[in-house]
Amino acid sequence: MSGFQWWHTAVIYQIYPRSFMDGNGDGVGDLAGIISRLDYLQDLGIDAIWISPIYPSPMADFGYDVSDYTDIDPLFGDLATFDRLLEAIHRRGMRLILDWVPNHTSDEHPWFIESRASRENPRRDWYIWKDAKPDGSPPNNWRSFFGGLAWEWDATTEQYYLHLFDRKQPDLNWRNPEVKASMFETLRFWMERGVDGFRMDVVSFIIKDEQFRDNPVEEIVDDDVSDSNPIHREQRHIYDIDRPEVHDVMREIRAVIDAYPERVSIGEIWTEPLARWAEFFGQNGDELHLPFHFGLLFLPWQAQPIRVQIEALEAVLPPGAWPSNVLGSHDASRLATRFGPQAVRTAAMLLLTLRGTPVVYMGEEIGMVDGVIPADKIQDPQGINSGAELSRDPCRTPFQWSEVPYAGFSTVEPWLPVAEGYEQRNVAAQQVDPHSVLNLYKRLLAYRKSTPALQQGAYHTVTDTPDTCYAYLREYDGQRRLIVLSFADAEQTLSLDAIADRGKVAVSSGLDREGEDLDLSRLRLGAHEGLIIEI
Ligand code: NOJ
Repeated sequence: MSGFQWWHTAVIYQIYPRSFMDGNGDGVGDLAGIISRLDYLQDLGIDAIWISPIYPSPMADFGYDVSDYTDIDPLFGDLATFDRLLEAIHRRGMRLILDWVPNHTSDEHPWFIESRASRENPRRDWYIWKDAKPDGSPPNNWRSFFGGLAWEWDATTEQYYLHLFDRKQPDLNWRNPEVKASMFETLRFWMERGVDGFRMDVVSFIIKDEQFRDNPVEEIVDDDVSDSNPIHREQRHIYDIDRPEVHDVMREIRAVIDAYPERVSIGEIWTEPLARWAEFFGQNGDELHLPFHFGLLFLPWQAQPIRVQIEALEAVLPPGAWPSNVLGSHDASRLATRFGPQAVRTAAMLLLTLRGTPVVYMGEEIGMVDGVIPADKIQDPQGINSGAELSRDPCRTPFQWSEVPYAGFSTVEPWLPVAEGYEQRNVAAQQVDPHSVLNLYKRLLAYRKSTPALQQGAYHTVTDTPDTCYAYLREYDGQRRLIVLSFADAEQTLSLDAIADRGKVAVSSGLDREGEDLDLSRLRLGAHEGLIIEI
């Protein structure tokens, strides 16, 4: 294990706290609810929990609009409950990663209340204020990622402030040293309390062009990470986000993290193309430990685009860099909805056998589907501003624990409706079904944990497979595992004897072929079947 930290070999599980478990019967998930389900997570076999923001917030963006970085919103609990949660997680040998939101605060944060009070206020420069153009229009053409302009007029002080997200999320001015110092203090506050690291929200956005130039307007069609949100693709985002100067701040952030042993820095980095994305590891490995790799999120569920993406990822990684693959999140359509139900099992096998630290979004382990949210129940600001098709509510519906009303998530009507089909698709039902998706996740997680080739091994594509298959090797210290994934609707027979003559099934996606001896010159692979093979 030399050179490996806990986060290299960990599997991270993302909890969207509003929707995981309601402990106090108000229809919204909370920390007490998470505590009550830690045994489930331990039994599942994950190693670290990342919780989306739990700080005090007006909830304009459900916690990504923070009004106090060093407390807990009463909706979720309080600091004493947080300490109990952290202790209970550590007692089980797991780790806790918090979400840190550095790009913007809530407009109800005391810093912004002061900043907007007058042009002379000492905190005026903590946010980004600009005069109107002579004709009264905004300072430049930047757009909010939630739709509309990124500038909001303040009638009292007669200037615009910048908000790359909702107008209730004003952007902090990270060129101001006091802002930096105060935000670094918030990191220290939680590390002193014992948290094991941070997932840093849109951290590559924090530095803006010093001259606030217009972004070039052109439709972006050819990047290596495609994205379904048209707002992201109508301008070339070279001045509002991902500025080269951000790397100086990234190194400062890393130094704050490194002052505490064994903490991890994870970044939400969408930067394109991959070569620029890879810069967030730092030239000397001194920026992020794990910039999330989102390249698989928006690809079609086909073997060749996925293979090409993984090869491109492996090719751009600087020496010593470690990938972290994401297949689902609170911002993207559910796997079963995006790729189709037939993809759920092979997607699990892909995510948990690729090289790197996988992130499992809560509910994927039971194959949850997107919920259907009636128009008058849309909660997400992105859906409200830019249209229902861009709403992220469908992937944020309550977790499905059992077949009782509200899926065992709450005793009262939850903040978002429970997705259809929960009576069959829930933890209780899948626990007793030996072939369930939940039991596949458990088996994959346990097998991964006991197999250094999967946790730490090198990655090699297996070539000469049919277009509808993706096969690769993972190898560590003489241990070799062959992973074969079908993306085809029909059974097929493969010749893989260039790799080895014979093999033995360690895990099959249907949990029905374990121990089977294989002649690799004639490998039978079912439709959308995945196999981990010991060779
Ligand atoms: C990315 C988060 O994942 C998303 O949920 C949020 O709306 C934006 N950042 C703004 O904080």
